[in-house]
Amino acid sequence: AAPAATVAVQADHPGPVIAKEIYGQFAEHLGRLIYEGIWVGPDSPIPNIHGYRKDVVEALKALHVPVVRWPGGCFADEYHWRDGIGPRDKRPVRVNSNWGGVEESNAFGTHEFMDFSELIGAEAYVNGNLGTGGPQEMADWISYMTADTRSTLVQERKANGRDKPWTLHWFAVGNESWGCGGNMRADYYADLLRQTRTYLKPAPGQPTKIIAVGPSDDDTAWTETIMARAGKDIDALSMHYYDVASLNSVPKGTWKAKGSATQFNETEWFASVFGAYQTDVLISHHSAVMDKYDPEKKVALVVDEWGTWHDPEPGSNPGFLYQQNSLRDAVVAAVSLNIFHAHADRVRMANIAQMVNVLQAMILTDGPRMLLTPTYHVFDMYQGFQGATSLPVVVTGPDYSVGGRTVPAVSASAGRGTDGVTRLALANVDPGKAATVQVRLAGLKAGKVGGRILTAPAMNSVNSFDHPQVVAPAPFKDAKLSGDTVSLTLPAKSVVVLDLQ
Ligand code: AHR
Repeated sequence: AAPAATVAVQADHPGPVIAKEIYGQFAEHLGRLIYEGIWVGPDSPIPNIHGYRKDVVEALKALHVPVVRWPGGCFADEYHWRDGIGPRDKRPVRVNSNWGGVEESNAFGTHEFMDFSELIGAEAYVNGNLGTGGPQEMADWISYMTADTRSTLVQERKANGRDKPWTLHWFAVGNESWGCGGNMRADYYADLLRQTRTYLKPAPGQPTKIIAVGPSDDDTAWTETIMARAGKDIDALSMHYYDVASLNSVPKGTWKAKGSATQFNETEWFASVFGAYQTDVLISHHSAVMDKYDPEKKVALVVDEWGTWHDPEPGSNPGFLYQQNSLRDAVVAAVSLNIFHAHADRVRMANIAQMVNVLQAMILTDGPRMLLTPTYHVFDMYQGFQGATSLPVVVTGPDYSVGGRTVPAVSASAGRGTDGVTRLALANVDPGKAATVQVRLAGLKAGKVGGRILTAPAMNSVNSFDHPQVVAPAPFKDAKLSGDTVSLTLPAKSVVVLDLQ
């Protein structure tokens, strides 16, 4: 018999709202993300809307992407926004020194990004350049985007085709300033942040929240310093965490050989799943430090880079970070989202890295062709959690063990959607065993249950351009409701989202 799990949902003890921005995405000038993935230009034979590829825009609209972060990443601290405004044929060509040393045409700049955000209905998150820019450049950029005055900057924006200001929801002061963003010490960054913050003045009425560079992985010392020195000056602190199978293996492997996105065994599957569960440990550590300085949780922790980082696809430019996306990535996404839900009080934005053709992408393109990855489908199935009220869940049940290490086989989260529907997300991370699940609902009388499942024949099943539907959601009809209990069998290596109404 399949091992049994119990999931207790406390619908009578609602928790904080799950910020819709947890379903955000990251779009950097990297590889084939911006150019080819989003922007093909108005003269391209690929169907496009004023230069944005139509298929990608439609797929993103269907997902209701709440927020997009741009232009980097490491790219952000070498990006000068003035390069990307004005007539496209007059913009300077630069070299993208972080990502493959390729030419950056600057065809996609501030207007193209802000209009793109509006086109897909997402909030704009612009990452400022602290490394090679500075306060003046950032202050001017914010004015250019948000002001409605008679200033010369605003006249310039109007002359470039945008009359009314855009709405700027988020602005970050640098990226990874402890690394590619300047190799700074935390104290030094905190001082620069305070100095810069003084001059960042979004126009009145703008909702712009200011984000500070936060820690990588488990670097709580960085969090401590920024919160102590500048916690009162910011709205949010970022955190970056990549799930790298080799680094979550025993013995620990290297960054150089992270492991293939598609050719992996169960030990590597486990390492990725283990890495996803680590997200909970890291957020808990940083939240505890933030609680010391900000017990009222005014400052959000925003996980603005997260996802799996595998070896690049053989034959692709290694600087482009192009990787396939399998059922393993989907399971990692589900576990990570369940963890973000559990930390909804502090984690109020997350941006998966990245949107198209880079790292744990939602969408892959090949010339005119496009496919939706297994990760896209998880985001789609979880849409009802955007803005939902979180409901506490307690999972008791089987473990999943490999090589002496253990994680819970079943990961779960629950929420009451803005449409009034209660949703339960479940992932069975064990690739070999189904789990029978008894869901006990406290404080909820449901009349019917339905849902969708994502699974596939193999751990490493992928969607390819020739077979784009191998990993795709299907209706899930096997959940039985009886009184306050829902019973179901969760197939091995699957993700299920149930609607209870
Ligand atoms: O997402 C790829 C890179 O990873 C980003 O540019 C950087 O911020 C991080 O190190």
